[in-house]
Amino acid sequence: MSFLVRITNRALLRAPSAPTPRRGGDRHLVRLALGLAGVALVSAVLAACGPSDPVSEGRRLVGQKGCTGCHIIPGAGGNSSIGPSLAGFASRPTIVGAIPNTRENLAQWITNPSSLKPGTSMPSLPLSPAEVNAIVAFLQTLK
Ligand code: HEC
Repeated sequence: MSFLVRITNRALLRAPSAPTPRRGGDRHLVRLALGLAGVALVSAVLAACGPSDPVSEGRRLVGQKGCTGCHIIPGAGGNSSIGPSLAGFASRPTIVGAIPNTRENLAQWITNPSSLKPGTSMPSLPLSPAEVNAIVAFLQTLK
């Protein structure tokens, strides 16, 4: 991703400038225009490559991060019964039958389950805050 931005920037810096302007003011305008075009192009590239909405990002992540290796997760797959099925999880009042099923608790559960239930067999998985947000957003759709 970042390499694309770098390439784009480099291409823009090398772009042949408009016919050599005679007055200094015009040159500034040409630079400004090129700069703006650069920003627009980079934003377009970023938008095209960036993650889509958090729910679909979360659906993708539960597969990529191994959650489906232990859980059946509707919309994402999995056929293991090591962990409980997450079908209808968003309608459950509690996490593992004990902890109120709030957004914050769920985020904490996913990052560090044993901090909420010492001795639990669900492992902590290394996830960035953005990944946690996306996974929580997706799990909350499993009504
Ligand atoms: C190695 C297997 C394993 C992996 C990988 C795993 N889990 Fe779990 N998960 C469990 C187990 C086992 C439990 C039940 C723990 C308990 O009752 O102490 C659990 C419980 C849960 C619960 C609570 C379910 C309920 O019925 O209350 C959620 C939500 C959950 N996991 C989400 C995830 C997510 C999201 C991921 C991926 C980031 C993940 N798990 C990865 C094994 C796993």
